[in-house]
Amino acid sequence: MVEIRPAAAQELTRLLHRHSTQAANQATGGTPIVQLALEPGGCADWTYRLTVAADLDQPTTAVAHNGIDLVIPTAQLDLLKDLVIDYSEDLMGGGFRFINPLAQRTCGCGNAFALSADRPVAQDCTAAHLPTP
Ligand code: FES
Repeated sequence: MVEIRPAAAQELTRLLHRHSTQAANQATGGTPIVQLALEPGGCADWTYRLTVAADLDQPTTAVAHNGIDLVIPTAQLDLLKDLVIDYSEDLMGGGFRFINPLAQRTCGCGNAFALSADRPVAQDCTAAHLPTP
């Protein structure tokens, strides 16, 4: 089960409200929903992508926790099934934090992970991106 900690739920609620207001002002249709997906490559094998969207372009599975409805591409459920999403702020700004028990290695900022302890991961995004698995 995906866990959305209270601080993350609060920030996602704020982003959903902002997105809804913008959509209403622009008279665009669709109910905004939070989507979490993985993109291959980047600073490790997989990079988290958290978006608010009205249209979904692939089959998804809905999960809900702490008042947030979240959709995940069904094909990626196995990689995200026990993920914990948190949000915290520091002097550099706020950001979502991802805690995935399947991650064997995590990049320097925590937004990308590798499934194998032998795979290289970057320690900052300015490093050359790694080859995809
Ligand atoms: S995504 Fe580049 S260091 Fe984390």
